[in-house]
Amino acid sequence: EKGTYPHYMLKEIDEQPAVMRKIIQAYQNEQGELTIDPEIIHALNAADRVYIIAAGTSYHAGLVGKQFIEKMAKIPVEVHISSEFGYNMPLLSEKPLFVFISQSGETADSRAVLVTIKEMGYQSLTITNVPGSTLSREADYTLLLHAGPEIAVASTKAYTAQLAVLVILAEVTAKSRNLDPEFDLIHELGLVANAMEVLCDSKELIEHISREFLAVTRNAFFIGRGIDYYVGLEGALKLKEISYIQAEGFAGGELKHGTIALIEEGTPVIALATQESVNLSIRGNVKEVVARGANPCIISMKGLNMDEDSFVIPEVHDLLTPLISVIPLQILAYYAALHRDCDVDKPRNLAKSVTVE
Ligand code: M6R
Repeated sequence: EKGTYPHYMLKEIDEQPAVMRKIIQAYQNEQGELTIDPEIIHALNAADRVYIIAAGTSYHAGLVGKQFIEKMAKIPVEVHISSEFGYNMPLLSEKPLFVFISQSGETADSRAVLVTIKEMGYQSLTITNVPGSTLSREADYTLLLHAGPEIAVASTKAYTAQLAVLVILAEVTAKSRNLDPEFDLIHELGLVANAMEVLCDSKELIEHISREFLAVTRNAFFIGRGIDYYVGLEGALKLKEISYIQAEGFAGGELKHGTIALIEEGTPVIALATQESVNLSIRGNVKEVVARGANPCIISMKGLNMDEDSFVIPEVHDLLTPLISVIPLQILAYYAALHRDCDVDKPRNLAKSVTVE
């Protein structure tokens, strides 16, 4: 139920800190250590490559999940859009493990891939919010998101829950391979939950930024480098699906290879700057678009922030920034849609779960 909230989307955005704490609990054993069904960890360790299959927001979570699994557990990962996989099947490794990410567990495009890879005799893991969903029943293993029902068509809390479960999976796998995780993930995820709370309390400021940058525009661009680029893709999807503003996410370095031609006087460019290693280069990209008339909105992480930034997110571990940098983008999209009198929870032409191919 929506309770006092005007929309499910806003309620679900606000639920994210609680979902984070629930996930930390759900994946902890009695000794207070993160734990995952040993059979799943065994399946990962037996694989020479992980193939993540997903659509939409879940695909964007997969892009970040690849970073977690490769950096922490040192297993190579490929991420594929489920609807493309059938035609563009990559040359598979000898021992692949397929990981399906799906909030609903019912996405037909992903189900079709699962049918194919089962016929080929490969193992599969589904990461889903819905126990007993088709993708969960048909895969060999399941990990649950524990996010509670997500009603709004625009996915919010499922995305951050997917990231949390993926990083826990990466961590537990890393430990099983005697790889030093270098940080205390339970502690870091606790900090993420606290940071999420701070962001959920910053709605007024973000609404103001939404009015300033998105009130009249026809289009908007999101730029970032590294994992910020992946979060930009998700921010753009959120904005386009509920506010109908044409929004696209780009890798900062790709701008000069074509996209910069689209920049006009006043075009909003939302830039993410949460990674120290690319902070100066993404700011260089901002200068390039500003020189062509863009209206820049820089969202940075504390410690990397500069005077010109529009919004600063609290500091968390640099691998975990997508869990929180996405929240201002979700809230920006929410207000952009609201200010345009769009049906926030039920955008036109879209369904919550896409059960046709
Ligand atoms: O239920 P799934 O995670 O498989 O759904 C995948 C996409 O349809 C979904 O994420 C869609 O992109 C959302 N509406 C995005 O907010």
